Amino acid sequence: MRRFGPALLGGILVSLLLAGCGDADGPGADAPGADAPGAGASAADKPAPDAETVAREPSAIYGRYCVNCHGTGMAGAPMVGPEHRLLWSEEIEEEGFPTLVKIAIEGQNGMPPRGTCFDCSDEEIEATVLYMLKESGAK
Ligand code: HEC
Repeated sequence: MRRFGPALLGGILVSLLLAGCGDADGPGADAPGADAPGAGASAADKPAPDAETVAREPSAIYGRYCVNCHGTGMAGAPMVGPEHRLLWSEEIEEEGFPTLVKIAIEGQNGMPPRGTCFDCSDEEIEATVLYMLKESGAK
């Protein structure tokens, strides 16, 4: 499954995602997208039943922890960004979103458990993975 036509992944998501942050061309430039509506939307699809702590913004978690590796490709981390859309789409295609979240929580190879955000809840990690996927424009 290495050959995807861009058209397959374009369309709806891209237009949705780029609507709010068309000028954010990389994970480093997340300031303009900080208020993106994505956070609320993603939380809606899996409400934390008894979250006693207020969930942090996925973009903030990403910016503090994950970007160190996923913004640079350090240690072989899959990079986040629209230009890596196909890579992330393959990840989802081959492993599925729940597996990506599981790996993000438990770690794998160079990926440390919870991406070093040790006080992140599972929900926050999941939301952050979703954020990364959205930043990359993957489905
Ligand atoms: C110390 C560097 C580092 C940090 C910090 C880091 N990652 Fe990773 N991440 C990696 C590496 C390396 C891989 C590739 C792992 C592999 O080869 O299987 C990876 C892979 C992943 C994957 C894909 C797993 C797969 O199946 O390919 C996800 C999702 C992910 N990281 C999420 C996160 C999140 C969310 C954070 C922040 C909370 C984060 N990472 C922080 C290094 C990092």
